[in-house]
Amino acid sequence: MKLLLVVVVCIGWIFSGVLRAQEVSVIPYPASVRMLDGKFSLKAGKIEYRTAEFAPEAGFLAEQLEDLSCRMKADKDEKKAVILLTQSADIQNREGYRLQITPKGVTIAAKNRAGMFYGIQTFLQLVRNGGRDLACCEIEDAPRYDWRGYMLDESRHFFGKEKVKQLLDWMAYYKLNKFHWHLTDEPGWRIEIKKYPRLATVGGKGNWSDPNCQDVRFYTQDEIREIVAYAAGRHIEIIPEIDMPGHATAANFAYPGLSGGGTPEHPEFTFNVGKEKVYQFLTDVLREVTGLFPSSLIHTGGDEVAYGIKAWETDADVQGMMKREGLTEVKEAERYFTHRIEDSVRMLGKTLAGWDELLDAGVPAGGTLIFWWRHDRVNQLKKLLAKGYETVLCPRKPLYFDFIQHKTHKWGRVWSGFCPLEDVYAFPDKGIAAWGIPAEHLTHIRGIQANVWTERMHNTRRLDFMTFPRICALAESAWTPAGVKDYDSFTRRMEKAYRDFDRAGIYYFDARDPEARPEPAGPQQQKRNLPMDFRD
Ligand code: ACM
Repeated sequence: MKLLLVVVVCIGWIFSGVLRAQEVSVIPYPASVRMLDGKFSLKAGKIEYRTAEFAPEAGFLAEQLEDLSCRMKADKDEKKAVILLTQSADIQNREGYRLQITPKGVTIAAKNRAGMFYGIQTFLQLVRNGGRDLACCEIEDAPRYDWRGYMLDESRHFFGKEKVKQLLDWMAYYKLNKFHWHLTDEPGWRIEIKKYPRLATVGGKGNWSDPNCQDVRFYTQDEIREIVAYAAGRHIEIIPEIDMPGHATAANFAYPGLSGGGTPEHPEFTFNVGKEKVYQFLTDVLREVTGLFPSSLIHTGGDEVAYGIKAWETDADVQGMMKREGLTEVKEAERYFTHRIEDSVRMLGKTLAGWDELLDAGVPAGGTLIFWWRHDRVNQLKKLLAKGYETVLCPRKPLYFDFIQHKTHKWGRVWSGFCPLEDVYAFPDKGIAAWGIPAEHLTHIRGIQANVWTERMHNTRRLDFMTFPRICALAESAWTPAGVKDYDSFTRRMEKAYRDFDRAGIYYFDARDPEARPEPAGPQQQKRNLPMDFRD
């Protein structure tokens, strides 16, 4: 019996050793990895790209290797290349790739540019984590989900273009491909609109923690174009969000005539859905936004309007519109508004995206992308998927990164639980197993996204602490096939990721030793002084 136990333990030990030897240090883990014999030593030399289309990716690879002190020259049809970038029609997925490292050289094959870019990112992680002597291997890879998103709220606190570019770099490194940019809300309007300059110059004043400060922070249209181009170079699509008809406070302070009122806690929270000039204004805004963002989507929010609709019950314009349209409840006024905006978005040649409240407005399933955020309303998700809405999963738990990630933390949100790294990693599989959604409805899940609401993140140190390392778990949950995900392996590979964060000077949460790096304090909120002459 004892002998049997020893044999079993030995086999287990050998087997785990084999598994470790098979593992490559890459996040998110690839769909398939086969280790080959031998090593390849990376030295300065040439990168060949056989398809002109891959020239930008070849340039990107050369630039990144130069940062790693390995000088490379990228050329088309270079015969003595050590790294070959080639097109391969047999790779089906537009983001898929094949990476082969043999003693003779490196070949990355993809069908198109996005796949080539991800093959390059995998190769760069191998070099960063393993050095120039690389174990030979063959990696075949493609993402589990086509939507792998990260949302940043810059209304509550504004971080600026250098920080956004840095986040885009990290997103690309981890193969995240959608940057949802929450640009307008109660504390601040952060995008220049030429036709309505006060949106930025007045609406851009102050922030969540200090609503009365005179600092004006917003992105000019030139800066937006610069960031969109930077993201495109990293195969990241930016989806702008202009939140309406709620969360409109900053816009209403800039143009008081647009307001539909709010509550004492959320004054001037809504646009006035009864005024024609509000529809004209919003369509004008969306037209300028359309010109700035090449994405086919415009996210128009649509969340939490219940806060404001009490005010609509007594507002003469809203009541007038309701009478004219034969509506009896303010909820119907909200629905009316959503349809008008959906018309504008369609007229501008874009597709509507919004939070899961849009289901109740009855927008068309075929042409709307919905973001399911209310984790306590699984029925809403079930209805969405049953009706065929393309849906991105971003439930508060575990994908709101403003929730704390450890029980000792004090400054983030807690709501009968929080969002630790393990829960982000277990998503969505644990949820899918529990929700009981028919398999044929699951096909409408477009992907997953983390949302970084920044009420309690007033500086980049706190933003980093809340983002890292959860961004790694998010990336693996979004990219790696469910059957390949393995938390122990992820934990081992995170060792290298922490080293990357150290090198980059990121102040991260260290999940290996939660006491090691204290949580940076968050801000306290001051009360907003309402302008005396507001809406007189
Ligand atoms: C949301 O968190 N209000 C979408």
